[in-house]
Amino acid sequence: MGQIKFITDFEDKFYLNKKIFVRVDFNVKVQDNRVSEDFRIRSAIPTIEYLSKRGARVILGSHLDRPKGRDYRYSLRPVSLKLEEILSSFNTKVKFAEDCAGTDTKRMVDSMENGEVLLLENLRFYPEEEKNDLQFCQALASYADVYVNDAFSTSHRKHSSTYGVAKFFDTRIAGFNLAQELQYLSLLREKPANPFTLVIGGVKIKDKIGALDHLLPKADKVLIGGAASYTFLKAKGHSVGQSIIEEDYLPWVTKALQDHSDKIILPLDHKVATSENSDHYQVVQSEIPKDMRGFDIGDKTIQKFSYEIHNNGLGTIFWNGPMGYFEKEVFSNGTKSVAVSMALAFWRGVKTLIGGGDTLEAMKVSGVSEKEVTHVSTGGGATLRFLAGDEMPGIDILKSN
Ligand code: 3PG
Repeated sequence: MGQIKFITDFEDKFYLNKKIFVRVDFNVKVQDNRVSEDFRIRSAIPTIEYLSKRGARVILGSHLDRPKGRDYRYSLRPVSLKLEEILSSFNTKVKFAEDCAGTDTKRMVDSMENGEVLLLENLRFYPEEEKNDLQFCQALASYADVYVNDAFSTSHRKHSSTYGVAKFFDTRIAGFNLAQELQYLSLLREKPANPFTLVIGGVKIKDKIGALDHLLPKADKVLIGGAASYTFLKAKGHSVGQSIIEEDYLPWVTKALQDHSDKIILPLDHKVATSENSDHYQVVQSEIPKDMRGFDIGDKTIQKFSYEIHNNGLGTIFWNGPMGYFEKEVFSNGTKSVAVSMALAFWRGVKTLIGGGDTLEAMKVSGVSEKEVTHVSTGGGATLRFLAGDEMPGIDILKSN
């Protein structure tokens, strides 16, 4: 396999007059036809802007959510409006194609002018996208001369636009977002500066196992809170009441506890209630009553976790997953305190990274800005898969230029 080529590996004049297909990940939150969270859109702007300013015609392809066919609730039109709003300050024109395939789309592509940006409608309106369908790949490839992947967060998918289409291009390039993700996450995966602290929360231990298998041996401290912690506590013989448990993963958790007993730190107390809708909660030490579920870590745990994060010296901290049901104010203290401790660690010079699923949202709810983190990964599943050392088709295909 060859080396990945990056945008700046080519001279400016290489991009002039070229049609460039850029796979972006604009799978963002849309509410009432408006983009309510634009982090992923902003993270793709450097690539779009760079290419446009060098006289390229930039064709953007993305999915939004998981529609079953053409379902306009998942249209990318609101995203195109957001993109237009952001790019207007660079004087860059954005057009929106109502479809991502077909003759009208091809016509729009062919009539593009240098510097223009065209966003195609949701690629997943066609089931062929997820099937890595040859004809669909060919249709997408017919739009452009050069392929750029700037969608790290969807590079674990072997889909038409992330994988199959790339084979039709002699020149495949990694965009700025992808390059930055590779730089920070490779360092985290291979050589995190010690002391290395892992902060793990959220649900779905299943999705985290690969990354944890890789990172646990390298970590000095592992703080486990949120829904993930109840399976660990159960494996240690504690009563967890009605809390979420992933029975199938108890054997893995038991082994992890044996192998890394010196570094794993579990919650000491919990905020519990009978349901997430209940406004009545209580704080219990260690054991959770039979009819109760844990929804947040308690104050003692908050103090312990904050202490460990502050004690990291000048190493690395990776945080994945909230400490509780932070969507509800009453259960958000644990998550907020971890987010604030992470920000303070960053200001002290610690390399802090966050990624995977809800963590970005958890950080925002806590009032911590992206600027107070060394690297915020755009990826959910992709980040965990990359950290596990799994195959990443969208990245691997760039290496075989
Ligand atoms: C994500 O949100 O993690 C990416 O956009 C990938 O989406 P998917 O899990 O629906 O493929």
